[in-house]
Amino acid sequence: MSEKNITDLKTIRLSEDTNSVVILDQTRLPGKEVYLSLSSAEDLWEAIYKLKVRGAPAIGVAAAYGIYVCSKQIKAAGFDDFYKEFKRVKDYLASSRPTAVNLVAALNRMEKVVLDNCREDVQALVRLLHKESQAIREEDAAACRRIGENCLSLLKPGMGLLTHCNAGHLAVSEYGTALAPIYLGQERGYDFKVFADETRPLLQGARLTAYELQRSGVHVTLICDNMASAVMQKGWVQAVVVGCDRIAMNGDVANKIGTSGVAILARHYGIPFYVLGPISTIDKQCPDGQSIVIEERAPEEVSEMWYSHRMAPRDVRIFNPAFDVTPHDLISAIITEKGIAYPPFTDSLNY
Ligand code: MRU
Repeated sequence: MSEKNITDLKTIRLSEDTNSVVILDQTRLPGKEVYLSLSSAEDLWEAIYKLKVRGAPAIGVAAAYGIYVCSKQIKAAGFDDFYKEFKRVKDYLASSRPTAVNLVAALNRMEKVVLDNCREDVQALVRLLHKESQAIREEDAAACRRIGENCLSLLKPGMGLLTHCNAGHLAVSEYGTALAPIYLGQERGYDFKVFADETRPLLQGARLTAYELQRSGVHVTLICDNMASAVMQKGWVQAVVVGCDRIAMNGDVANKIGTSGVAILARHYGIPFYVLGPISTIDKQCPDGQSIVIEERAPEEVSEMWYSHRMAPRDVRIFNPAFDVTPHDLISAIITEKGIAYPPFTDSLNY
């Protein structure tokens, strides 16, 4: 496959007339690059719920653009009418997925714009919402680059890196969080060897991480989740880099199901375990991992999805949590656009 620039893929953008949110449908990858145009709250909700757009920062940006697009459609005589409908759409979009704090954080930022400008007319409010949604997207892209630079300062050319799920270009507005140092390293000849966990049950590692790294010419090897120990034991992994959906104030981190297992393995083999994410993923209201709501998803994702026929007995009990919490004491550093936070995170995360 010939190498392509990762930024050719547009994960999320506004259409030129700003009447719809255009997303790359991640459920069609790696087979097809299909873009969807979404302009109703229902379509946006469904796209987030079904992971057509996914990854904590990406769903924040999609929700910000989404509520702007929906606000343009509100027919309201004055502020009260406008805000009532805005709030209804906001709460509805926020209900699409519970764990990634970026979704609610982006929607709260958009709501603050409305509340801070309650004396403006509706057209002016909509203009301000447009500006804020663009700012959320631009800040995310800038944060990802900084996160990449900060993490790269901890890595050396030729290292083997292991990652779980997809915290790459497809999960954000540009570049990624956990994959950002890999892309920067690629530009600078670091020659990393990356192991991508396939990430059961929704295969974000196989379908998305392997796809975007291979497309960009990065040396990537796909492994099943249960092979991580074997590649670590062979001495092929010098650091683990993962993303995050919510960071608690004590440094506990929610990320894709299976992340905590990788952290336990990394500790066993003495490999540094780095969590990368923007400061918008830090939840100041959340003291520790126990307070994080973990999304549970349909049992069919485990028993049927991707198989040509069902691979589990009918009616067997299935537990399908989409995320888990990695305890802070297994994390070597949390890397944001502000810098590298080391334990104790209660002190170092106070940005
Ligand atoms: O269910 P997903 O695919 O949205 O889960 C994504 C993850 O867990 C990512 O690691 C996280 O959102 C960070 S993305 C930069």
